[in-house]
Amino acid sequence: MSAPRVAVVGATGAVGQIMLQTLARRGFEASEIVPFASERSAGKVLEGYGVIQPLADDTVQGYDLALFSAGGSTSRAWAEKFVAGGAVVVDNSSAWRMDPDVPLVVSEVNPEAIDGAKKGIVANPNCTTMVVMLPAKALHDTFGMTAMVATSYQAAGGAGQKGIDELAAQMPVLHERVELLVNDGEQARTLVTSEIHADTLAYNVVPMLGTLGENGYTDEEMKLQNESRKILGLPELAVSPTCVRVPVMVGHAIEVRATYEREVDVAEAKAVLEAFPNLVVEDAPTPLAAAGRDETFVGRVRADLGDPRSLNFFVVGDNLLKGAALNTVQLAELAVERGLAGARA
Ligand code: A2P
Repeated sequence: MSAPRVAVVGATGAVGQIMLQTLARRGFEASEIVPFASERSAGKVLEGYGVIQPLADDTVQGYDLALFSAGGSTSRAWAEKFVAGGAVVVDNSSAWRMDPDVPLVVSEVNPEAIDGAKKGIVANPNCTTMVVMLPAKALHDTFGMTAMVATSYQAAGGAGQKGIDELAAQMPVLHERVELLVNDGEQARTLVTSEIHADTLAYNVVPMLGTLGENGYTDEEMKLQNESRKILGLPELAVSPTCVRVPVMVGHAIEVRATYEREVDVAEAKAVLEAFPNLVVEDAPTPLAAAGRDETFVGRVRADLGDPRSLNFFVVGDNLLKGAALNTVQLAELAVERGLAGARA
């Protein structure tokens, strides 16, 4: 097959931009890479990639691969049209993840699942679930996971460029008002606007991320349960998720207490984590140090104080790279390697 023709949908967004950089950095062989964005951007030139295309019946034809990161409603409306026009779609939104005919794939964890892309669509997991899956898989293969309590510390960039911009705008305003931050936080909150994050994020921690459901969990938290079960092939896995937004630009961190079928030896656990691809074991990884890095980092690996079959660990990964753009590009590479992309044309 000749080099694939690739569409990048959402090319002007936080993840789309990094997808383009990641394709270039990894030397992805394409005959052409065409940027797509909303009507607001269509017609403008994206340097190095030419004119930004609008989504329209005639513009989505004849691609081998379409990498989507333009939100769920865009994916729902346009993914199947790209497929009908010849493409395999790798979708970064939540639109298709739980569809039984759409594989949900982390390239190091369940690459073989990509062959089950019956609809021509492959889904990229949620950015928080993604980084947890690397250590979870490594340890599950050795000890057999039965339950997981996962509490996230998620970066502003998980909400896209707008999430980064909102935090960046709040920081200098509140930086000048340390006395209010100390004495009257309620007053400090009134000095900035919060439209993207659920509350003031600068100098704060916000334990509400996504839309709250009737069961008291947000949709973001439910993704941690549902997507982990699907990726690991553990439909009964007990997951207790809590998702929290923290004033970090990029880099999601998650504290995990995982419970196993057998007692966990910490040295053996560290050895299997160290042997897992693209996973780095450190004493105390931080999101700041992980920003801009491809690897996922795991640290604070500790035996549980109360249960010999449980282990505590802290995972960190760049939510825009491994959490989104990098895994999308890895899935595009996998689709080419396994003969999926282009095969439908
Ligand atoms: P645009 O820049 O024209 O708004 P982020 O997650 O950083 O906010 O980025 C979202 C990406 O999705 C942007 O590239 C944005 O394009 C694109 N996008 C948003 N809505 C649509 C739409 N209805 N059709 C196509 N692209 C869209």
